[in-house]
Amino acid sequence: MTTRSLRIRRCSVVMIEPREELELDVAGLFAGAHAVRARVKLVALAPHAGDEIELDEAEAAALGRIGDTDWIERDALAGRIPESVIDSLLAKGLFVGDGEADAAMRERDETVRGVHWKPLSAVAHAFSRWHEAGVDEDVRITRHRTLTELIAESGPPPPHVTSRVAPAARQPLPSPRATAVDAILARRATCRNFDTTGTLDLARFSDVLQRVVGCQAEVDILPGTKALKKAHPSGGSLHPLEAYLVVQRVDGVAPGLYHYHVTSHALEPLATLEPGALGDFAMRCVAGQDFFADAHALLIVTARFERTFWKYRSHPKAYRAIVLEAGHVSQNLYLTATELDMGAFVTAAINEVDIEQMLGLDAVRESPIAVLGFGPRANEKTMLEFDPLGEVWDGDTLKAR
Ligand SMILES: Cc1cc2nc3c(=O)[nH]c(=O)nc-3n(C[C@H](O)[C@H](O)[C@H](O)COP(=O)(O)O)c2cc1C
Repeated sequence: MTTRSLRIRRCSVVMIEPREELELDVAGLFAGAHAVRARVKLVALAPHAGDEIELDEAEAAALGRIGDTDWIERDALAGRIPESVIDSLLAKGLFVGDGEADAAMRERDETVRGVHWKPLSAVAHAFSRWHEAGVDEDVRITRHRTLTELIAESGPPPPHVTSRVAPAARQPLPSPRATAVDAILARRATCRNFDTTGTLDLARFSDVLQRVVGCQAEVDILPGTKALKKAHPSGGSLHPLEAYLVVQRVDGVAPGLYHYHVTSHALEPLATLEPGALGDFAMRCVAGQDFFADAHALLIVTARFERTFWKYRSHPKAYRAIVLEAGHVSQNLYLTATELDMGAFVTAAINEVDIEQMLGLDAVRESPIAVLGFGPRANEKTMLEFDPLGEVWDGDTLKAR
């Protein structure tokens, strides 16, 4: 079908990955030759489209023939790009038309443009998100693969310490002096043993939120423009991170999903799920890591990208800054929870897509960066924790404090 009056431009962000795939070669197998055959396919990664899109060579070439700024009359492409290729790229949403039929993809593309993603970052974020994934199906991270097996397969890891000068050239530093912070740092250990029988009191739950994702001040920086002061640093002081809670066992808070309203230090109820459904969602959040899903409260850290990209437009460092910020939030949670005699965790093994669907987020604008969790520890340890100093555990029993 040819629509003569249509104007076209390329979508704003698309990258092409030549990807090798191994496929079964039945003919080769019966001929006693190779049983697998390598095939290189061209995969278009365009965040506005959502899914990966396979291209043929003519389509890949055509993407390099028109730009993403000016609209071009379709007729003007005659002779440069075959009609069938224009049609297929329009159908795939990689060419965007200004007609009715292309409205949905055009709108998605407008959203990507409007948020001001750096193309490389947009592709990296969009296509590293998981949907219904479980860590146990991933051979690189499953807990069922031991370190011994890993070393047998991959050889030893790179050394745990590096040195750039001869030992004699090192300048020794004075022994550190102990402070209250040291005591907290020494007791910080990723918690994989939450107390599933008890609840978390509202006071500590509230303290954690105030210190970790809350704000200490709302400041008028210009007439009509406010900024937040929080406990963690933020690129451009824009504080793009948002907090959502999966509350499972907190006194005085009905189990369910909440958004944390930062300036009022209050929970905004989003959904009350049946206990089973809430537990399933918690498991999905942490990709099947049941020892994390057990936490009294999960804290989903999302980023409103457009807030940071408003200043750092299409900037190569902007996405990295956001990811770093989430790391600061995580460490503040670890320290706050430790001080309040609780455990905490962070994981990047999360099902971003499932979380976005549950929270009603458009991934181009706002998407999860990490899932954290906190709550009182169990008295007995059943899952591995890294506590070489014996600050948290006395054998398998929680150390008395
Ligand atoms: C970004 C990030 C992601 C992590 N993801 C996981 C995870 O998916 N599962 C897990 O059991 N631990 C996870 N951890 C925790 C590490 O395994 C843990 O920090 C490490 O074993 C050192 O233990 P420690 O935190 O108690 O010092 C993660 C840590 C970080 C910083």
